[in-house]
Amino acid sequence: MTDPTVKNLLDPGFELTLRPMRYPDFYERYRDAIKNTWTVEEVDLHSDVADLAKLSPAEQHLIGRLVAFFATGDSIVSNNLVLTLYKHINSPEARLYLSRQLFEEAVHVQFYLTLLDTYLPDPEDRTAAFAAVENIPSIREKAQFCFRWMDSVDTVDRLDDRDDRRRFLLNLICFAACIEGLFFYGAFAYVYWFRSRGLLHGLATGTNWVFRDETMHMSFAFDVVDTVRKEEPELFDPQLRDEVTEMMREAVEAELRFAHDLCGEGLPGMNTSSMREYLQCVADQRLTRLGFPPVYGSENPFSFMELQGVQELTNFFERRPSAYQLAVEGTVSLDEDF
Ligand SMILES: [Fe+2]
Ligand SMILES: [Fe+2]
Repeated sequence: MTDPTVKNLLDPGFELTLRPMRYPDFYERYRDAIKNTWTVEEVDLHSDVADLAKLSPAEQHLIGRLVAFFATGDSIVSNNLVLTLYKHINSPEARLYLSRQLFEEAVHVQFYLTLLDTYLPDPEDRTAAFAAVENIPSIREKAQFCFRWMDSVDTVDRLDDRDDRRRFLLNLICFAACIEGLFFYGAFAYVYWFRSRGLLHGLATGTNWVFRDETMHMSFAFDVVDTVRKEEPELFDPQLRDEVTEMMREAVEAELRFAHDLCGEGLPGMNTSSMREYLQCVADQRLTRLGFPPVYGSENPFSFMELQGVQELTNFFERRPSAYQLAVEGTVSLDEDF
């Protein structure tokens, strides 16, 4: 049954009518995502175990912290997806995409569970990694950033007025631009730094597919933002711009404290100052995509990330039958990534 009062994407309700379809692009995103299905069983982590034994103590510390972040990151995103995005994006075709995204987040959670079980054979180490949001300050800080933006919409049952819609938009933008689009992109850089040195290929393989999924999650969320901007341009005022910019700055600072924890005094090719430039460059890309001015003007210092978009496609073509190539051509946007 269609509610005649529903005119815009953020109007409250649980719209059910798929024909005539109001937002066919969201439906196409759902169909494209299905073509990219992968399973954790396809990722072979065996050679990683031998590589881990070869790492220096500083590198082992870095990888230990990184997987501890992976232990909970995608579960937090999944929770917000169900509790906030699914609830308030009022289009059945968009909810189809969100259902698919939820499945992909479940695969990511399973991938990282398998990764931690493989990388951390000692039960005590494993328990400590899964409790990182409680015990490791640099990871706890990032989790608290996420929880703060989840809590900001906690009491919003319906997006009845402008203030509710702004709060929702900030939550959506936070999860897409700062969490999937910055925290996760920070994590991917460490993985590809190892890969550029011929290490941890199992992790890199799984990361290729997670990276690809996250790029699409972010892209969908930005399309939702674009749609809302078209339908309700008055929501996109200087106050929203300032709040998003401040949120992005906070995310960069939290990710930098994490970088400092991971890198310490620095490792060959990976240190806090390079990470700062990389994160600032990524943050500027997110702000620009959202239609807001960039704030840092930094360049990407990581050549191994510039190749990432191309490398990901190459790996996909090598491994996948032709059925999957259709989706790759249509959905991967190289200009949004490195
Ligand atoms: Fe994910
Ligand atoms: Fe995601």
